[in-house]
Amino acid sequence: MSVVKADLDWSNLPFTYVKTDKNVRYHYKDGSWGAPEICEEDMLSINIAAPALHYGQQGFEGLKAFETRDGRVVCFRPDENAKRMNRTNSRINMPEIPEEIFISAVETVIRENIRFVPPYGTGASLYLRPLMIGVGPKVGLGPADEYIFLVFATPVGPYYKGGFKPVDAVIVEGFDRAAPHGVGDCKVGGNYAAGLPGSKFVKEQGCAVGLYLDPQHNRYIDEFSTSNFIGIKDSSYITPKSPSILPSITNKSLATIAQDMGMLVESRQVEIGEVEGFDEVGAVGTAAVITPVHSIKYGDKILTFGEKDSAGPVLTKLYETLTKIQTGEVEDKHRWLLEIL
Ligand code: COI
Repeated sequence: MSVVKADLDWSNLPFTYVKTDKNVRYHYKDGSWGAPEICEEDMLSINIAAPALHYGQQGFEGLKAFETRDGRVVCFRPDENAKRMNRTNSRINMPEIPEEIFISAVETVIRENIRFVPPYGTGASLYLRPLMIGVGPKVGLGPADEYIFLVFATPVGPYYKGGFKPVDAVIVEGFDRAAPHGVGDCKVGGNYAAGLPGSKFVKEQGCAVGLYLDPQHNRYIDEFSTSNFIGIKDSSYITPKSPSILPSITNKSLATIAQDMGMLVESRQVEIGEVEGFDEVGAVGTAAVITPVHSIKYGDKILTFGEKDSAGPVLTKLYETLTKIQTGEVEDKHRWLLEIL
C-alpha cells in the first residue's frame, strides 16, 4: 500500500507535539469500558472537578512505531506498555485497561495516522502517548467514578538534540522526583511535575539531563529525569535496582540485547562512588532511546566517560542493534515487533 506522507522535514523533527489526523478514546462508566471513539479533535472536555485535575489520578505511557526497511509499519513491544499501564492503574486505584483494548487503541491510532509514520532512514518515529485520567465530578478525596483512556500520536525526532551524541548530566540537588515508598515506579504525571524544579537546576548548571539519587539514602543512583540509567564496566551491563524508578521497557530490551552479546547484566544498587569507574554511561528510555552521557557533575566533582563527541563502543553496538531491530534490519528474534501494516 503506498501512502502519501505528511509534508514534514522528517530528518529534522524535534521531540514535540504535532497535531495528527486522529486520536482514539474510550470512556469507563458503571464498571465497564465503552466502544472506541475515533476523534479528529485534539481537545478534551472534562468536568472541572475531575480527580485527575485535583488529586493527580492519572497515568500515561510512551511507545513508538517505525517504518521498516522493507516498507512495513511496526510497533515496539506494546504488550509491555499495556502491562506497565495496568501496574500504574492498580497503584492509584484506576480500573484495569484490558490488554486487547490497549493494543487495539494503539493499532487504530497508528493506522489512522499512517501518513505521519516517519519514512525509513530518517531516524524519526511515530510516538504514541496512551493516557488514562479519572474524570467525572468529585471533590472529596477518592477514586473517580469515570475514566477516559485515550491514545494520540505525534511524529518525533530525537529527545536530546543531536540524537545519539553524548550529553552532560548533573546530579540533582535539593529535590527528589519520587518518595521512597511512593509512586516513583509508576508512570504518573506527578513524578515528572516533581522533577520540574530539578530541570531548572539542570539548565542552570549548563547540563542537558538531571540524574536523581535515591530519595531514602541520597547515595544510590535512581534514574535520570526522563529515563533509566545504565553503566558499562568491562563486559557488564549495570543498571540500578530501586523501588522508586520506572521499569523501563527500553532498559529491559537493552539488557536482553546485552545478554545476547555475551555481557553480564547486573540489576542492583549502584552507589554513586562506583560510577566513577564505569567505562560508559547512558540514559535509556522510549524517548531518549540511548543517550550517551559524557559527564556527570556531582557537587564540585565532574565524572567523565569516553569521548566528548562520540559514544563508546558498547553503547554504540547496543544502540545499533536496538534501532535496527525496530526498523527490520536485524532479526527480531525475541518477537518484540507488532506488525501494523
Ligand atoms: C518516554 O520516554 O516515553 C517518556 O514518557 C519520557 C518523557 C520525559 C518524554
